[in-house]
Amino acid sequence: MRARVLVLVGASLVAVVALRRRSTSRPSPSTGLGWRSCSAPSAAWYDALFGGPLRGLQQHVAADLLVLTGDTPVSDVLDIGSGPGILAVELGHLAPSTRITGIDIDPDMVERASTRAAHSGLDGRISFQAGDVAELPFPNASFDVVTSTFSVHHWTDAAAGFAEIRRVLRPGGRAIIYDLPDWWGRIERGAGPLATGAAGAGFAATRTTVFRWPWRVPLATRLEARVPTAGPPG
Ligand SMILES: C[S@@+](CC[C@H](N)C(=O)[O-])C[C@H]1O[C@@H](n2cnc3c(N)ncnc32)[C@H](O)[C@@H]1O
Repeated sequence: MRARVLVLVGASLVAVVALRRRSTSRPSPSTGLGWRSCSAPSAAWYDALFGGPLRGLQQHVAADLLVLTGDTPVSDVLDIGSGPGILAVELGHLAPSTRITGIDIDPDMVERASTRAAHSGLDGRISFQAGDVAELPFPNASFDVVTSTFSVHHWTDAAAGFAEIRRVLRPGGRAIIYDLPDWWGRIERGAGPLATGAAGAGFAATRTTVFRWPWRVPLATRLEARVPTAGPPG
């Protein structure tokens, strides 16, 4: 079983990189977004893979987020590039007093995430909307935690994205961002390291560590960045 998941993860990652490098943004049938936005031919493909055999990944991320936030009260979480809503729903089950908002540039993903939330029994606490990380449609200081998984390397303007994350976080709030290892992001799109993006946005403290899944496989870089507790955002 372990070996099968490992082979599936490895084959998926290699296929994604090969296909994205061959593609010049092949559109998905409904929205015009495709490989360049979600590393899959369409939202439906992505949902079938990561909401099915690879669902354990987002379960692991949700548990990891709870460990990292520890005893700090978390009322409002924003998940950027929320895709089909797998993480938001897992988190909703694990953190019963937390409201979770997801935002994604692809309306197909938002529709899938909203359907998943409606069937989860948590829909009152979870909502999704379409939007770009570079222009978040939320007032300053709206969230305690902003998270994102495997989306940063798709952002066309990562610096604007990190500035927006900083703006919508409350004083003392935290960004906890997971993305492909920095070396992988560089090969794929010339994306800069996660820590550089966060430092440019003026976070008080940043730290990057290796996020491992499945088992000890170093799948992602995990960035933790904190907003200073005093002073206005931005
Ligand atoms: C590889 S998928 C990850 C989805 C989800 N976070 C997960 O881990 O299952 C990347 C997601 O980022 C979204 N995305 C890409 N660029 C974006 C942007 N500029 N603003 C918001 N979302 C974006 C895509 O539409 C896609 O759903």
